Amino acid sequence: MSSEGIRKKFLEFFEKNRHAVVPSSSLIPDDPSVLLTTAGMQQFKKYFTGELDFAKDYPGKIGAASCQKSFRTSDIDEVGDERHLTFFEMLGNFSFGGYFKKEAISYAHEFITKEMSLKIEWVSVFEGKDEIGVPRDTESEEIWKSLGVSDVRSQGMDDVFWGPTGSSGPCGPTTEIYCKNGAGQDIEVWNIVFNQYLYPGSREELNAGVPGKKLEPLRIQGVDTGMGLERLAMCMQKTKTIFETDLFAKPFFLAAEGALLESGRILADHLRASVFLLADGVRPGNKGAGYILRRLIRRAIIRSKKVYGSPEAFPKLINKIIDFYGNFYKELNSQHAEILKAFSEEQQRFQKTMDAGLKEFFKKYPEFKAQEYRGEPYKFHIPKNISGEDVFHFHQTYGLTLDIIKDLAEEGSHKVNIDEEGFEKEFQKHQEISRAGQEKKFGGHGLLLDTGELKAANEEELKKVTRLHTATHMLQQALRDVLGPEVKQMGSDITVERTRFDFAFPRKLTAEEIKAVENRVNEKVKEDLPMQKSVLPKSEAEKTGALFFFKEKYPDPVNVYFIGKNLENAWSKEFCGGPHVAHTGEIGIFKIVKEEAVGSGVRRIRGIVEP
Ligand code: ALA
Repeated sequence: MSSEGIRKKFLEFFEKNRHAVVPSSSLIPDDPSVLLTTAGMQQFKKYFTGELDFAKDYPGKIGAASCQKSFRTSDIDEVGDERHLTFFEMLGNFSFGGYFKKEAISYAHEFITKEMSLKIEWVSVFEGKDEIGVPRDTESEEIWKSLGVSDVRSQGMDDVFWGPTGSSGPCGPTTEIYCKNGAGQDIEVWNIVFNQYLYPGSREELNAGVPGKKLEPLRIQGVDTGMGLERLAMCMQKTKTIFETDLFAKPFFLAAEGALLESGRILADHLRASVFLLADGVRPGNKGAGYILRRLIRRAIIRSKKVYGSPEAFPKLINKIIDFYGNFYKELNSQHAEILKAFSEEQQRFQKTMDAGLKEFFKKYPEFKAQEYRGEPYKFHIPKNISGEDVFHFHQTYGLTLDIIKDLAEEGSHKVNIDEEGFEKEFQKHQEISRAGQEKKFGGHGLLLDTGELKAANEEELKKVTRLHTATHMLQQALRDVLGPEVKQMGSDITVERTRFDFAFPRKLTAEEIKAVENRVNEKVKEDLPMQKSVLPKSEAEKTGALFFFKEKYPDPVNVYFIGKNLENAWSKEFCGGPHVAHTGEIGIFKIVKEEAVGSGVRRIRGIVEP
């Protein structure tokens, strides 16, 4: 059965069962707490919460059904395998107090086994969770068994508890249906959610068990279901991957049996998604949905270089996508010219900077450029390694970022080794040399402001001062933790032997305080936290609360170095030019060797790292 046939059957089946068939809502949701539409239920949120009355809006109907355009960024890194996508179509039926578990499961059972003539391999039900007060879903289990489905498996929160989407909303246990695809694998095709609760917070808060926020029973118990059209098509058309279904094989070139290249899949997913986002009015930009779109388009372009070797194919491909999907999604037709225009503008912006670099890259690494799509995996000869020096060279000379080089190099099971550490090192060495050349100084912002000497003479010394440099950031934060936020940097100086840090504080530190500061640094060394960098416009960098040295002049944009998993919750944040270690564990043991006064209200600490 064609995908068009599946959509039609689904909507007709529910129409016949007294559902209102509702068009897909836009990918840009009304709900400002959600970036893009991720599920069919979003347009119905107000019916679930009782803010709107379904019976009044749709007299005589017991529920609604739709085929919804959906987009999930959470799966973006998974794209390229057999069954993950960013954009997908979700078939769903919904009830707002009209019917509940028994009917919902019976409809699904009938549709899959009768209308689609598929076998249900197994289903899952919620195992229950005491902490949030939700019991095991024995009712659904019994309903499945009464319908002759005997393989009923219990699963937990991660698999079979849905929602809420956004900052609050309906949520509840789910039951999922698994069928066989063309590769003989059981895949989840349909998720049936029983919206029994309202949660006054986000899903993250629910998972974390935030105090004071509890599940409340929903006034109107509802049903919200979602079935991926691409996955159902995989089962119906007996294909091994979603990319061999007509949904991709028709508008693209991806028809060859089972041997699709990762690049072709990523290109197909990203390009299709871009077309739909553009049709709904998203434009490439630097934040929010616009940024997602920009990433999709740019990755599609990079991947196209490996599939076709030429960008001219894009307008033709876009036309084919619009031709194919325009039958059902009419907005694609009315936006046709706009889509082509916006895509090509972004393509030109990107290509202007990339072309020379890509040419050089493929000259050096011809094996990363596909000859033609031949339905067989790439055969790599030499080299499978890309050295740090090369990555640095392409970055520095052509603006090919590490991201882009990774995209160029990655392909399925062929693991290419990109020397990222070597790249970082090259990067640091370069920074150090250029700074030394320009300023005859080492280190940069917040460091060595009043010496005029180069402090690291060779690789080994550079390593040592780098450790001391990171230790200096940690010392400043530890001082603030122990003595309070009035600690303020007044200067610093780092040599191969030691770091020296001056700060405003009105009195001598006690022996206990010194010990506590030292311990605090070593505690964070033991945690082996990542030291990371964000490059931000100065005004935004200031908003992060990162520390900066008032005597220093910083460039705009500026680097914010932070210690921790993410910038927001980082333990230490500072404006800085680097270089730094990658993980605090590299520092070794930190020791304070001296604490003294230098002038009124200014203290000086000398610290060393061992071994
Ligand atoms: N809202 C549910 C989902 O997206 C059905 O899986």
